[in-house]
Amino acid sequence: MLKKKSSYVMAILGATGAVGKETLEILEERKFPLASLRLFASKRSAGGTMSCQGKEWTIEELTPESSFAGVDFALISATDAISRDYGRKLGAAGVVVIDDSGVFRMEPDVPLVVPEVNAHALETMPRGIVSIPNCTTTPLVMALKPLQEAVGVKRVVVTTFQSVSGTGAAAMDELMDQTKALMSFQDVKAEVYPYQIAFNLLPQIGSINDGGDCSEEVKIVKETRKILGAPSLRVTATTVRVPVLRCHSEAINVELEQPLTVNEARAALAAMPGVTVFDDPVKKLYPMPLDATGKDDVYIGRVREDESITNGLNLWVVSDNLRKGAALNAIQIAECLIKG
Ligand SMILES: NC(=O)c1ccc[n+]([C@@H]2O[C@H](COP(=O)([O-])OP(=O)(O)OC[C@H]3O[C@@H](n4cnc5c(N)ncnc54)[C@H](OP(=O)(O)O)[C@@H]3O)[C@@H](O)[C@H]2O)c1
Repeated sequence: MLKKKSSYVMAILGATGAVGKETLEILEERKFPLASLRLFASKRSAGGTMSCQGKEWTIEELTPESSFAGVDFALISATDAISRDYGRKLGAAGVVVIDDSGVFRMEPDVPLVVPEVNAHALETMPRGIVSIPNCTTTPLVMALKPLQEAVGVKRVVVTTFQSVSGTGAAAMDELMDQTKALMSFQDVKAEVYPYQIAFNLLPQIGSINDGGDCSEEVKIVKETRKILGAPSLRVTATTVRVPVLRCHSEAINVELEQPLTVNEARAALAAMPGVTVFDDPVKKLYPMPLDATGKDDVYIGRVREDESITNGLNLWVVSDNLRKGAALNAIQIAECLIKG
Protein backbone atom coordinates (compact mmCIF):
# COMPACT_ATOMS: atom_id res chain seq x y z
CA MET A 1 0.00 0.00 0.00
CA LEU A 2 2.78 2.48 0.95
CA LYS A 3 5.12 3.03 -1.99
CA LYS A 4 8.81 2.98 -1.02
CA LYS A 5 10.39 6.41 -1.46
CA SER A 6 13.40 8.26 -0.15
CA SER A 7 11.14 10.76 1.64
CA TYR A 8 7.46 11.11 2.47
CA VAL A 9 4.78 13.77 2.62
CA MET A 10 3.24 13.83 6.08
CA ALA A 11 0.09 15.62 7.18
CA ILE A 12 -0.54 16.28 10.86
CA LEU A 13 -4.16 16.92 11.79
CA GLY A 14 -4.06 18.68 15.15
CA ALA A 15 -0.51 20.02 14.74
CA THR A 16 -0.93 22.77 17.34
CA GLY A 17 -2.13 20.52 20.18
CA ALA A 18 -0.13 18.92 22.98
CA VAL A 19 0.52 15.78 20.90
CA GLY A 20 0.96 17.67 17.62
CA LYS A 21 3.73 19.89 19.02
CA GLU A 22 5.54 16.86 20.40
CA THR A 23 5.19 15.14 17.02
CA LEU A 24 7.09 17.95 15.30
CA GLU A 25 9.90 17.71 17.87
CA ILE A 26 10.18 13.96 17.40
CA LEU A 27 10.16 14.15 13.59
CA GLU A 28 13.11 16.50 13.93
CA GLU A 29 14.99 14.48 16.55
CA ARG A 30 14.62 11.21 14.66
CA LYS A 31 15.36 12.82 11.27
CA PHE A 32 12.23 11.27 9.81
CA PRO A 33 12.60 11.36 5.99
CA LEU A 34 10.19 14.19 5.21
CA ALA A 35 9.63 15.41 1.67
CA SER A 36 7.24 17.97 3.11
CA LEU A 37 4.92 18.56 6.00
CA ARG A 38 1.29 19.72 5.95
CA LEU A 39 0.08 21.10 9.26
CA PHE A 40 -3.65 21.30 9.96
CA ALA A 41 -5.53 22.79 12.90
CA SER A 42 -8.65 24.86 13.51
CA LYS A 43 -9.40 28.25 12.01
CA ARG A 44 -8.03 29.87 15.16
CA SER A 45 -4.47 28.65 14.40
CA ALA A 46 -4.57 28.86 10.60
CA GLY A 47 -1.96 31.12 9.02
CA GLY A 48 0.54 30.72 11.87
CA THR A 49 3.74 28.78 11.40
CA MET A 50 5.56 25.99 13.22
CA SER A 51 9.13 24.90 12.67
CA CYS A 52 10.43 21.39 12.00
CA GLN A 53 13.64 20.10 10.42
CA GLY A 54 14.95 23.63 9.85
CA LYS A 55 11.89 24.94 7.98
CA GLU A 56 8.84 26.99 8.88
CA TRP A 57 5.60 25.32 7.87
CA THR A 58 2.34 27.22 7.56
CA ILE A 59 -0.67 25.94 9.50
CA GLU A 60 -3.72 25.32 7.32
CA GLU A 61 -7.32 25.32 8.46
CA LEU A 62 -8.73 21.80 8.26
CA THR A 63 -11.92 21.87 6.21
CA PRO A 64 -13.86 19.28 4.21
CA GLU A 65 -12.35 20.93 1.11
CA SER A 66 -8.72 20.47 2.30
CA SER A 67 -6.78 18.58 -0.37
CA PHE A 68 -4.59 15.65 0.65
CA ALA A 69 -3.30 14.88 -2.85
CA GLY A 70 0.23 13.49 -2.65
CA VAL A 71 0.10 12.92 1.11
CA ASP A 72 1.64 9.59 2.20
CA PHE A 73 0.95 9.67 5.96
CA ALA A 74 -1.74 11.44 7.97
CA LEU A 75 -1.17 11.54 11.72
CA ILE A 76 -4.47 12.45 13.36
CA SER A 77 -4.14 13.94 16.85
CA ALA A 78 -7.12 16.25 17.07
CA THR A 79 -10.61 15.30 18.23
CA ASP A 80 -12.73 12.15 17.95
CA ALA A 81 -14.95 13.93 15.42
CA ILE A 82 -11.96 14.75 13.21
CA SER A 83 -10.69 11.16 13.42
CA ARG A 84 -14.14 9.94 12.45
CA ASP A 85 -14.61 12.43 9.60
CA TYR A 86 -11.13 12.27 8.06
CA GLY A 87 -9.73 8.86 9.13
CA ARG A 88 -11.99 6.71 6.98
CA LYS A 89 -11.91 9.13 4.04
CA LEU A 90 -8.12 9.43 3.95
CA GLY A 91 -7.58 5.70 4.52
CA ALA A 92 -9.88 4.91 1.58
CA ALA A 93 -7.99 7.43 -0.57
CA GLY A 94 -4.70 5.58 -0.08
CA VAL A 95 -3.20 7.78 2.65
CA VAL A 96 -1.71 5.78 5.55
CA VAL A 97 -3.63 7.05 8.57
CA ILE A 98 -2.05 6.79 12.03
CA ASP A 99 -4.79 7.72 14.45
CA ASP A 100 -4.38 8.81 18.05
CA SER A 101 -8.02 8.74 19.05
CA GLY A 102 -10.15 5.95 20.49
CA VAL A 103 -12.43 5.93 17.44
CA PHE A 104 -10.98 2.95 15.54
CA ARG A 105 -8.93 1.12 18.17
CA MET A 106 -11.28 -1.78 18.78
CA GLU A 107 -12.38 -2.26 15.18
CA PRO A 108 -11.25 -5.76 14.18
CA ASP A 109 -9.77 -4.66 10.83
CA VAL A 110 -7.75 -1.81 12.35
CA PRO A 111 -4.43 -2.81 13.91
CA LEU A 112 -3.74 -1.34 17.36
CA VAL A 113 0.01 -1.16 17.62
CA VAL A 114 2.90 -0.61 20.00
CA PRO A 115 5.83 -1.50 17.72
CA GLU A 116 7.96 -3.13 20.45
CA VAL A 117 5.03 -5.39 21.36
CA ASN A 118 3.03 -6.23 18.20
CA ALA A 119 4.62 -4.68 15.09
CA HIS A 120 3.49 -7.84 13.25
CA ALA A 121 -0.10 -6.47 13.39
CA LEU A 122 0.95 -3.86 10.78
CA GLU A 123 1.14 -6.58 8.13
CA THR A 124 -2.61 -6.25 7.50
CA MET A 125 -4.09 -2.77 7.29
CA PRO A 126 -7.10 -3.32 5.03
CA ARG A 127 -8.57 0.11 5.69
CA GLY A 128 -5.29 2.01 5.57
CA ILE A 129 -5.77 2.95 9.24
CA VAL A 130 -3.64 1.99 12.22
CA SER A 131 -4.56 3.12 15.72
CA ILE A 132 -2.25 3.88 18.58
CA PRO A 133 -3.44 2.86 22.05
CA ASN A 134 -4.56 5.00 24.92
CA CYS A 135 -1.56 6.62 26.63
CA THR A 136 -1.98 4.39 29.71
CA THR A 137 -2.33 1.15 27.76
CA THR A 138 1.00 1.61 25.97
CA PRO A 139 3.27 1.54 29.06
CA LEU A 140 1.14 -1.21 30.57
CA VAL A 141 1.61 -3.56 27.60
CA MET A 142 5.32 -2.67 27.40
CA ALA A 143 5.64 -3.93 31.00
CA LEU A 144 3.40 -6.97 30.54
CA LYS A 145 4.84 -8.27 27.26
CA PRO A 146 8.18 -9.56 28.67
CA LEU A 147 6.38 -11.14 31.63
CA GLN A 148 3.85 -12.77 29.30
CA GLU A 149 6.71 -14.19 27.23
CA ALA A 150 8.70 -15.33 30.28
CA VAL A 151 6.04 -17.15 32.30
CA GLY A 152 2.57 -16.04 31.21
CA VAL A 153 0.25 -13.48 32.80
CA LYS A 154 -2.92 -14.60 34.55
CA ARG A 155 -4.43 -11.41 35.98
CA VAL A 156 -3.58 -7.70 36.05
CA VAL A 157 -4.75 -5.01 38.49
CA VAL A 158 -3.66 -1.52 37.47
CA THR A 159 -4.18 1.86 39.11
CA THR A 160 -3.15 4.89 37.07
CA PHE A 161 -1.98 8.35 38.10
CA GLN A 162 -2.51 10.34 34.92
CA SER A 163 -1.10 13.78 34.18
CA VAL A 164 -3.24 16.62 32.88
CA SER A 165 -1.43 16.69 29.51
CA GLY A 166 -3.35 13.49 28.76
CA THR A 167 -6.38 15.76 28.38
CA GLY A 168 -4.52 18.16 26.07
CA ALA A 169 -3.05 21.65 26.05
CA ALA A 170 -6.07 23.36 27.65
CA ALA A 171 -5.84 21.10 30.72
CA MET A 172 -2.15 21.92 31.18
CA ASP A 173 -3.06 25.62 31.15
CA GLU A 174 -5.87 24.96 33.65
CA LEU A 175 -3.51 23.29 36.16
CA MET A 176 -1.02 26.16 35.86
CA ASP A 177 -3.72 28.85 36.11
CA GLN A 178 -5.36 27.20 39.13
CA THR A 179 -2.00 26.82 40.87
CA LYS A 180 -1.15 30.49 40.30
CA ALA A 181 -4.64 31.54 41.48
CA LEU A 182 -4.36 29.46 44.67
CA MET A 183 -0.90 30.80 45.45
CA SER A 184 -2.23 34.34 45.20
CA PHE A 185 -5.44 33.67 47.17
CA GLN A 186 -7.71 34.14 44.16
CA ASP A 187 -10.76 32.14 43.09
CA VAL A 188 -10.11 29.03 41.04
CA LYS A 189 -11.90 28.39 37.73
CA ALA A 190 -12.52 24.77 36.68
CA GLU A 191 -13.45 24.53 33.01
CA VAL A 192 -11.67 21.51 31.52
CA TYR A 193 -12.33 19.27 34.54
CA PRO A 194 -15.50 19.22 36.63
CA TYR A 195 -13.50 20.01 39.79
CA GLN A 196 -10.33 21.84 40.79
CA ILE A 197 -7.34 19.71 39.74
CA ALA A 198 -4.59 21.76 41.46
CA PHE A 199 -3.76 20.23 44.90
CA ASN A 200 -6.41 17.59 44.25
CA LEU A 201 -6.98 14.39 42.29
CA LEU A 202 -9.99 13.13 40.36
CA PRO A 203 -10.89 9.42 40.50
CA GLN A 204 -12.77 9.53 37.19
CA ILE A 205 -11.40 9.73 33.63
CA GLY A 206 -14.07 9.74 30.95
CA SER A 207 -17.73 8.84 31.26
CA ILE A 208 -19.10 6.29 33.76
CA ASN A 209 -20.90 3.20 32.45
CA ASP A 210 -23.77 1.27 34.06
CA GLY A 211 -21.33 -0.91 35.98
CA GLY A 212 -19.56 2.15 37.42
CA ASP A 213 -16.38 1.88 35.32
CA CYS A 214 -14.89 4.96 33.65
CA SER A 215 -14.47 4.84 29.88
CA GLU A 216 -10.69 5.11 30.40
CA GLU A 217 -10.75 1.93 32.52
CA VAL A 218 -12.73 0.07 29.88
CA LYS A 219 -10.26 1.20 27.19
CA ILE A 220 -7.30 -0.13 29.19
CA VAL A 221 -8.91 -3.55 29.62
CA LYS A 222 -9.99 -3.99 25.98
CA GLU A 223 -6.87 -2.52 24.37
CA THR A 224 -4.50 -4.54 26.55
CA ARG A 225 -6.21 -7.78 25.52
CA LYS A 226 -6.15 -6.82 21.83
CA ILE A 227 -2.47 -5.81 21.75
CA LEU A 228 -1.25 -8.79 23.75
CA GLY A 229 -3.44 -11.16 21.70
CA ALA A 230 -4.97 -12.42 24.95
CA PRO A 231 -8.75 -11.94 24.61
CA SER A 232 -9.58 -13.55 27.94
CA LEU A 233 -6.79 -11.98 30.04
CA ARG A 234 -8.24 -10.84 33.36
CA VAL A 235 -7.54 -7.12 33.69
CA THR A 236 -9.08 -4.51 35.98
CA ALA A 237 -8.21 -0.82 36.15
CA THR A 238 -8.80 2.27 38.26
CA THR A 239 -7.86 5.53 36.55
CA VAL A 240 -7.07 8.72 38.45
CA ARG A 241 -6.22 12.20 37.16
CA VAL A 242 -3.46 13.83 39.23
CA PRO A 243 -2.06 17.39 39.30
CA VAL A 244 1.08 16.50 37.32
CA LEU A 245 1.81 18.24 34.03
CA ARG A 246 3.39 15.38 32.11
CA CYS A 247 3.88 11.61 32.40
CA HIS A 248 1.44 8.96 33.48
CA SER A 249 2.35 6.63 36.36
CA GLU A 250 0.84 3.21 37.00
CA ALA A 251 0.87 0.86 39.98
CA ILE A 252 0.57 -2.60 38.42
CA ASN A 253 -0.13 -5.83 40.25
CA VAL A 254 0.40 -8.94 38.14
CA GLU A 255 -0.52 -12.52 38.88
CA LEU A 256 1.83 -14.66 36.80
CA GLU A 257 1.14 -18.14 35.45
CA GLN A 258 4.45 -19.53 36.73
CA PRO A 259 6.95 -18.47 39.41
CA LEU A 260 9.43 -15.71 38.53
CA THR A 261 11.85 -14.23 41.02
CA VAL A 262 12.15 -10.48 41.38
CA ASN A 263 15.61 -10.59 39.82
CA GLU A 264 14.34 -12.67 36.89
CA ALA A 265 11.47 -10.22 36.43
CA ARG A 266 13.87 -7.24 36.47
CA ALA A 267 16.08 -8.97 33.89
CA ALA A 268 13.12 -9.78 31.62
CA LEU A 269 11.83 -6.20 31.85
CA ALA A 270 15.30 -4.72 31.26
CA ALA A 271 15.69 -6.81 28.08
CA MET A 272 12.50 -5.34 26.61
CA PRO A 273 13.29 -2.70 23.94
CA GLY A 274 12.03 0.73 25.00
CA VAL A 275 12.02 -0.14 28.72
CA THR A 276 14.48 1.10 31.34
CA VAL A 277 14.46 -0.55 34.75
CA PHE A 278 15.30 2.07 37.36
CA ASP A 279 14.94 0.26 40.63
CA ASP A 280 16.94 0.75 43.78
CA PRO A 281 14.44 1.99 46.36
CA VAL A 282 16.90 1.70 49.25
CA LYS A 283 18.84 4.49 47.54
CA LYS A 284 15.54 6.27 46.81
CA LEU A 285 15.84 5.42 43.12
CA TYR A 286 12.55 4.84 41.35
CA PRO A 287 10.92 6.44 38.32
CA MET A 288 9.00 9.67 38.83
CA PRO A 289 7.13 11.87 36.32
CA LEU A 290 9.76 14.61 36.46
CA ASP A 291 12.48 12.09 35.48
CA ALA A 292 10.54 10.60 32.61
CA THR A 293 9.39 13.93 31.11
CA GLY A 294 10.71 14.31 27.57
CA LYS A 295 12.14 10.78 27.57
CA ASP A 296 11.26 8.04 25.13
CA ASP A 297 11.54 4.98 27.35
CA VAL A 298 8.99 3.48 29.68
CA TYR A 299 10.56 3.45 33.17
CA ILE A 300 9.92 0.62 35.62
CA GLY A 301 10.81 0.44 39.31
CA ARG A 302 9.59 -0.84 42.69
CA VAL A 303 9.66 -4.40 41.29
CA ARG A 304 8.75 -6.62 44.21
CA GLU A 305 6.97 -9.78 45.12
CA ASP A 306 3.30 -9.64 46.12
CA GLU A 307 3.16 -12.22 48.87
CA SER A 308 -0.64 -12.03 49.16
CA ILE A 309 -1.09 -14.26 46.08
CA THR A 310 0.79 -17.09 44.36
CA ASN A 311 3.22 -15.78 41.71
CA GLY A 312 2.35 -12.15 42.45
CA LEU A 313 4.46 -9.21 41.33
CA ASN A 314 4.15 -5.46 41.93
CA LEU A 315 5.54 -2.86 39.53
CA TRP A 316 5.64 0.93 39.31
CA VAL A 317 5.70 2.26 35.75
CA VAL A 318 6.16 5.84 34.50
CA SER A 319 6.03 7.00 30.90
CA ASP A 320 5.75 10.31 29.06
CA ASN A 321 2.19 10.25 27.74
CA LEU A 322 2.93 12.81 25.02
CA ARG A 323 5.92 10.78 23.78
CA LYS A 324 5.58 6.99 24.05
CA GLY A 325 1.91 7.41 24.94
CA ALA A 326 1.19 9.31 21.72
CA ALA A 327 3.57 11.09 19.31
CA LEU A 328 6.58 8.77 19.55
CA ASN A 329 4.50 5.63 19.19
CA ALA A 330 2.84 7.10 16.07
CA ILE A 331 6.18 7.98 14.47
CA GLN A 332 7.67 4.59 15.34
CA ILE A 333 4.72 3.04 13.48
CA ALA A 334 5.46 5.22 10.43
CA GLU A 335 9.12 4.15 10.66
CA CYS A 336 8.11 0.47 10.75
CA LEU A 337 5.90 0.97 7.69
CA ILE A 338 8.61 2.68 5.63
CA LYS A 339 11.10 -0.06 6.55
CA GLY A 340 8.51 -2.59 5.34
N1 LIG B 1 -2.52 14.03 25.23
C1 LIG B 1 -2.19 12.74 25.27
O1 LIG B 1 -1.41 12.27 26.13
C2 LIG B 1 -2.76 11.79 24.27
C3 LIG B 1 -2.28 10.50 24.25
C4 LIG B 1 -2.80 9.59 23.32
C5 LIG B 1 -3.78 10.02 22.45
N2 LIG B 1 -4.24 11.31 22.51
C6 LIG B 1 -5.26 11.71 21.53
O2 LIG B 1 -4.66 12.64 20.63
C7 LIG B 1 -5.64 13.59 20.20
C8 LIG B 1 -5.14 15.01 20.47
O3 LIG B 1 -4.87 15.18 21.83
P1 LIG B 1 -4.12 16.45 22.41
O4 LIG B 1 -3.85 16.12 23.81
O5 LIG B 1 -2.99 16.87 21.53
O6 LIG B 1 -5.31 17.57 22.32
P2 LIG B 1 -5.18 19.16 22.31
O7 LIG B 1 -3.96 19.63 22.97
O8 LIG B 1 -6.49 19.64 22.81
O9 LIG B 1 -5.05 19.52 20.73
C9 LIG B 1 -6.14 19.38 19.85
C10 LIG B 1 -5.71 19.70 18.42
O10 LIG B 1 -6.82 19.51 17.55
C11 LIG B 1 -7.05 20.71 16.83
N3 LIG B 1 -8.48 20.91 16.61
C12 LIG B 1 -9.47 20.95 17.54
N4 LIG B 1 -10.66 21.18 16.93
C13 LIG B 1 -10.39 21.29 15.60
C14 LIG B 1 -11.20 21.55 14.46
N5 LIG B 1 -12.52 21.71 14.55
N6 LIG B 1 -10.59 21.59 13.25
C15 LIG B 1 -9.27 21.41 13.13
N7 LIG B 1 -8.44 21.17 14.18
C16 LIG B 1 -9.01 21.12 15.40
C17 LIG B 1 -6.51 21.81 17.69
O11 LIG B 1 -6.24 22.95 16.90
P3 LIG B 1 -6.28 24.44 17.55
O12 LIG B 1 -5.02 24.58 18.36
O13 LIG B 1 -6.31 25.31 16.35
O14 LIG B 1 -7.52 24.51 18.39
C18 LIG B 1 -5.24 21.14 18.21
O15 LIG B 1 -4.23 21.17 17.21
C19 LIG B 1 -6.93 13.20 20.90
O16 LIG B 1 -7.65 12.32 20.05
C20 LIG B 1 -6.45 12.44 22.12
O17 LIG B 1 -7.41 11.52 22.59
C21 LIG B 1 -3.73 12.21 23.37
